[in-house]
Amino acid sequence: MHLDKLTGLMGAEISGIDLKNPISDSDASQLRAALDAHQMIVLRGQFLSIADQKRLNAVFGPLMQLPYVTPMADDPDVIAVLKEADEQNTGVFGGEWHSDFSFLENPPAGSVLNAVEIPDVGGDTVWSSQVAAYASLPADLKAIIDGRKAVHVGKPYGVKHAPPKESRSGASIQMVRGDPKADAETFHPAVVTGADGRKALFVNPIYTTRLDGMTVSESTPILEALYKHAARPDFSCRLKWQAGDVAVWDNRMSLHYATNDYDGVRRLLYRTTYAGTRPV
Ligand code: SIN
Repeated sequence: MHLDKLTGLMGAEISGIDLKNPISDSDASQLRAALDAHQMIVLRGQFLSIADQKRLNAVFGPLMQLPYVTPMADDPDVIAVLKEADEQNTGVFGGEWHSDFSFLENPPAGSVLNAVEIPDVGGDTVWSSQVAAYASLPADLKAIIDGRKAVHVGKPYGVKHAPPKESRSGASIQMVRGDPKADAETFHPAVVTGADGRKALFVNPIYTTRLDGMTVSESTPILEALYKHAARPDFSCRLKWQAGDVAVWDNRMSLHYATNDYDGVRRLLYRTTYAGTRPV
């Protein structure tokens, strides 16, 4: 197995392994170590079946079925991340900086995204290392969030980020919005510690509504400053997909963003998700 870093601070491309074959224990631990170190890894030209993808997913954790998003009709473990050619001039699934489902008591530990149909140009995914973001966070912001919890709520996705009813945005991905269970407040540490002991900023531009012990209006300027810092290009890595690529990311230690610059062209990836312990 060979590893090339994608940028100075996050992301790595791994070659020299064919994921269509069983994954040895030694390869599995190298893959996990690479993900811990780089928060996102990509393996090019793998052309995985769903069964292959689930085997890769299992290297990182047990498969997790997600609430509120309708999975593939024939497989409840898989979400088809699809934008059809006629979904134009609208939003896209994941088209804001976020980590997945942080409003759950136990949000996904990570995800595996398997590229099936990719535009010739556009449709890149961008990640941002929240390890790098925390390490360089100004001292005044660190003092506010160290040891403090942040409040996460599903509702903003259902309201602020919901596409207009008449639009085709997200038409290919059915979401349940406005479920009162998703809209209850969930508390997670604003700074989390990863498997390798490094700390990461864990606030979510979509789902974090306030900081514990503060009102929404007291929290808003602090959260806005944190989000601006969290999404600095210095901490990011941008993947230009090709069909057959597969990427894995740590959902606790990074944010991601699906770019929406390919109107008129179909884009399809299969996403599986794995569970972990509660963020600490
Ligand atoms: C996601 O947020 O999981 C979607 C990422 C993408 O489509 O690039």
